[in-house]
Amino acid sequence: MQLQNAHSAARRASSIVNRHSQIKKPLSLRTALPIFRAVPERVISDVLSKPDPALEVTLRPSLFSEFTGQAKVKERLEITVAAARQRGEALDHILLSGPPGLGKTTLAHILAKAMGTNLKATSGPTIEKAADLAGLLTNLEEGDVLFIDEIHRLQKTIEEYLYPAMEDFKLDIIIDQGPNARSVRLNLPRFTLIGATTRSGLLTAPLLTRFPIRERLDYYQADQLQQIVLRSARLLGVEIEEKGAYEIARRSRGTPRIANNLLRRVRDYAQVKHEGRITPAIADRALALLEIDENGLEEMDKRILEAIIVKFGGGPVGVNSLAVAVGEEPDTLEEVYEPYLIMEGYLNRTPQGRMATELSYRKLGLKPGGAQPKLF
Ligand SMILES: Nc1ncnc2c1ncn2[C@@H]1O[C@H](COP(=O)(O)OP(=O)(O)OP(=O)(O)O)[C@@H](O)[C@H]1O
Ligand SMILES: [Mg+2]
Repeated sequence: MQLQNAHSAARRASSIVNRHSQIKKPLSLRTALPIFRAVPERVISDVLSKPDPALEVTLRPSLFSEFTGQAKVKERLEITVAAARQRGEALDHILLSGPPGLGKTTLAHILAKAMGTNLKATSGPTIEKAADLAGLLTNLEEGDVLFIDEIHRLQKTIEEYLYPAMEDFKLDIIIDQGPNARSVRLNLPRFTLIGATTRSGLLTAPLLTRFPIRERLDYYQADQLQQIVLRSARLLGVEIEEKGAYEIARRSRGTPRIANNLLRRVRDYAQVKHEGRITPAIADRALALLEIDENGLEEMDKRILEAIIVKFGGGPVGVNSLAVAVGEEPDTLEEVYEPYLIMEGYLNRTPQGRMATELSYRKLGLKPGGAQPKLF
């Protein structure tokens, strides 16, 4: 009887959770206040690195064979899937990490599909109470995938409920309140938790170690992005030359989401200004109009480099001061802009703070040690 109560409480909670469980990233101040959109370069950075739900659904590969790049990660995951299927078991829990737009959500869907199971998606910040989590977990069927996006933003108290669920497929929940409060243990189906995070460094050790499989996605090479652009163009019915696709690819910051978004912008330009076919020259002109330079750096990247060099004498500067100087949130700097700048050698992250490199001085046409304040 008690158990039944617990189950129905959990299911009630889950119907509430389900209504709210689409992956919603909380609005940043920037998205919430349309007034910020008046600043033109902001619009560009914003639009290009943000997901466009309609586009993502149509262009998102649903099979391993359609997923370009990340060869080693893909091979390891395919082996895991094949082995689990042979044994007739659920997949082990998987943590996918890496900068935004590289394919974490896509891979989670591919994994569930390859296993022939359902995927239920939620995200760290939307699970507010233990009951939300209980609802999600008790609604899973044997072998289902529970996908938790932004898992590093899960509350500590919720995380603790997750440990026994992940390890022993058991959930201890408290029902009733006050003197009647009692703990009930629920058995859960063998499910697979797939967590995605842009900041695996923020995950607590107990949570991290409960993922037997941890994969990190890296930025894509230009030729892989070219394949992605060609595939997307085919799906969107856009005429594009191979070299036109390459031009978009090499200026997409190693990120498929940006490549797809740029493809759409370039398509608009080709349609309005030319006959619709994307050639390298048209791609180049369209991208120049979007202020995306030869190396894929956009306005905000340059503003960051300029701030470090001109305002902070080349660094080191802490992320918070830098964020204030460029008018961006520290989290966005760390998750979206810095990884690419660091990878490309424009920025060094030291224990004292961020430092400009020789390459970033050259990028801005400055000499190391001799920053000209005329930039500001
Ligand atoms: N390997 C790939 N091959 C083809 N397209 C891809 C690939 N990876 C990602 N994409 C495309 O990029 C889009 C963004 O990928 P996805 O949503 O999976 O990124 P993400 O890592 O989950 O990002 P976020 O951290 O912002 O949630 C997808 O809709 C898909 O169209
Ligand atoms: Mg995602």
